[in-house]
Amino acid sequence: MAVPAWMGRFVVSRAFAGTFPREARWAGCAWLTWCGLVLALCYWLPSQTLPWLLLPVALGWGLVAVCDWRSRRDSRRTPPGQLSLIEGIRALGERDFNLRQFAQCGPLFKMSQFGTPTICVLGLERIERLIKGHSEFLGPSTLPISNGVEGSFLRYMPAETHAVYGRLFRRAMSGPFGSGQTAAIERLCAEQLRLLVGPPASPFPRLQTLARRALNQLLLGLEPGTRAGDRFDELARGFATAGIGWSLGRRDRESLDEMRQILAQQVDAEEARGGDSALSPSVLLRLRQQDPQMPDRICFDNLIVMHRIATGNVSSLLGWLLYRWGTEPEIVAALQQAPESEGVTGLRTFLSETLRTSQSEYLYRRVVREFEFEGYRFPRGWLLRGCVWESHRTSAVVTGPDRFRLRQEPLAYDRRHFIPLGMGAHACNGGDINELICLAFLGRLWHTRAVRVTHATPLQRQTRHWSHWQPNQALLVSLEMGP
Ligand code: HEM
Repeated sequence: MAVPAWMGRFVVSRAFAGTFPREARWAGCAWLTWCGLVLALCYWLPSQTLPWLLLPVALGWGLVAVCDWRSRRDSRRTPPGQLSLIEGIRALGERDFNLRQFAQCGPLFKMSQFGTPTICVLGLERIERLIKGHSEFLGPSTLPISNGVEGSFLRYMPAETHAVYGRLFRRAMSGPFGSGQTAAIERLCAEQLRLLVGPPASPFPRLQTLARRALNQLLLGLEPGTRAGDRFDELARGFATAGIGWSLGRRDRESLDEMRQILAQQVDAEEARGGDSALSPSVLLRLRQQDPQMPDRICFDNLIVMHRIATGNVSSLLGWLLYRWGTEPEIVAALQQAPESEGVTGLRTFLSETLRTSQSEYLYRRVVREFEFEGYRFPRGWLLRGCVWESHRTSAVVTGPDRFRLRQEPLAYDRRHFIPLGMGAHACNGGDINELICLAFLGRLWHTRAVRVTHATPLQRQTRHWSHWQPNQALLVSLEMGP
């Protein structure tokens, strides 16, 4: 009964059920089954079978002990902290776990992320010095979805391939985008937000559609209502269920093949339309304009996976923007009363502050060769997590850094003190696209009379250390449009 008593702590915890509802249901079923089994066996077969139940328990604890031992065996002179599998799992559900560890251990501490020892680092200047100054010792921490991508996904490419494709994509994805593009995205925002006017409803399906269609347009030049646009959108909806933490399955690879074919035809068609198009060129066509041999298969696959990952990133950022707009009435009222000329600056600051306080999380790297930093060993095979959210939250250049405020301090959003989109060669190249979509979205919210949000907490994430925190999936929103 020691096992169900221990598990019961999680199962009856409201915080656990609120943060991980699916896992809580599974744990609840497992808990009830185990209790039932033990009680039934106690009653009917006490002497013969009960000892056998100790076997799976001992096996489970044995596995945990082996994991912990493997993590610990090469941990001499590494930063302070605990390499315990169970502690690492507990950390998943506590957003301020790392902050508490930093307060206890200092700016570097170690932990176990599902058995992989990980060194967490606080302070943007320190993270930059560590990542940029040790590039020959650090490699990417590759997500399995990248293995299904021809030539690998940009973020995880070998340096020599990234030297070619990184530059190509960065140029193609940099703004400015034309006024036609902006108007199309504004229409999309208006369409999707209109569906939230009236009784409270979940905003997530609307936000996902909005992010996906905006990226169809900006990245690929695919418009709704066209055969190619609608088919790609349908395939992208299916592809969105491919977990980025898993390799692609057979159905996902088939979708990838078909999406690749659509893009090959789309780039020729967009090129043929040339100057007749009402919209400025998509990223897909910009790749061709830079180099007539492009886009090749590496570009197509990267665009498709980028579309998949960015749909998730942008839709959850839109969720945060909606949540902040609904829960910061004084700030919103000040923005709505400001003169028109200051409008966009205010909205841009609102976006930066949302990124700073809500959706900037980390930079991960894997140690490929052992090195030393600030007196500590960084053993080969360990992960390094630059804790960006925690660094923003403890920054010395703003007052009350953990609060949501539209910052006037000159250094608040300076790139040395604010890096929600990463830094260096692998910094996010979707910044301009992201800003275009988010400003169009905030522009529509600016016209609302009221945004009401309920059931936003407890915040949620998936059960991986690299997944992002979000408002609760039970979030309900109701909009009232202004004149
Ligand atoms: C909420 C919005 C977004 C956030 C917070 C975000 C954050 C980041 C971060 C932190 C990195 C650096 C990762 C690292 O160094 O390990 C990154 C890289 C990247 N992001 Fe974003 N991103 C966002 C939106 C987008 C969008 C909209 C796109 C594309 C349309 C995009 C495409 C990329 C790509 C391709 C890279 C890899 C760049 C390279 O390695 O050359 N991101 N992003």
